Amino acid sequence: MTLITDTSRHADTTAALITPLVERWSPRAYDPTAVVDPAALHSILEAARWAPSANNVQPWRFVVATRGSDVFTTVHDNLMGFNKTWADSAAVLIVNIAEIVDPEGKSRPFARYDLGQAVAHLTVQAQHEGLHTHQMGGIEIAALHEALGLDERFEIVSVTALGVLGDAASLPDVLREREVAPRTRLALDEIVLKSA
Ligand SMILES: Cc1cc2nc3c(=O)[nH]c(=O)nc-3n(C[C@H](O)[C@H](O)[C@H](O)COP(=O)(O)O)c2cc1C
Repeated sequence: MTLITDTSRHADTTAALITPLVERWSPRAYDPTAVVDPAALHSILEAARWAPSANNVQPWRFVVATRGSDVFTTVHDNLMGFNKTWADSAAVLIVNIAEIVDPEGKSRPFARYDLGQAVAHLTVQAQHEGLHTHQMGGIEIAALHEALGLDERFEIVSVTALGVLGDAASLPDVLREREVAPRTRLALDEIVLKSA
């Protein structure tokens, strides 16, 4: 049993950050028997709800699929490659959707940006609740869109796996190696182009 519960996955920060930001990382090993408490799931979605957005349009939409449900199977069936091998252990799969066109047919240029902020809120709240998240872009977008019966105003951008940390030893070799590989980031002076 390899539960990575020590500080080895914590961010090695150059300044003091709030705890969920230090502790958040994206595992692929989830406990396949664990469920997410409905109150915690409520808090996590509420955190997304209170994200900022351009003109306060709030263009984020979610399909929340709990393991064992038909919708979970549909979402899982439409993950790509390696994502399929690990994400079925997550307790919940959340499809992250941007409403890119408003009900009057006008396009919303900031919809994907706003969705990203809502998902960031969600991940931080999940970490605060003692849960983990792992976002995925590797999804069969068109097939999932059709399977979920979404209308053309909605664009699927990503899927978030949410759940309780599991046994890294259960992962195939290549994924287990990634699970323990050092976490890296660009240096601050590489991402701040100008600072006057
Ligand atoms: C938009 C987006 C798409 C991602 N797609 C995948 C994916 O398809 N499969 C996967 O295993 N990880 C995916 N990731 C996870 C990233 O690889 C991970 O967040 C990054 O390596 C940083 O690691 P950390 O989250 O542990 O800090 C994705 C993350 C984001 C934000």
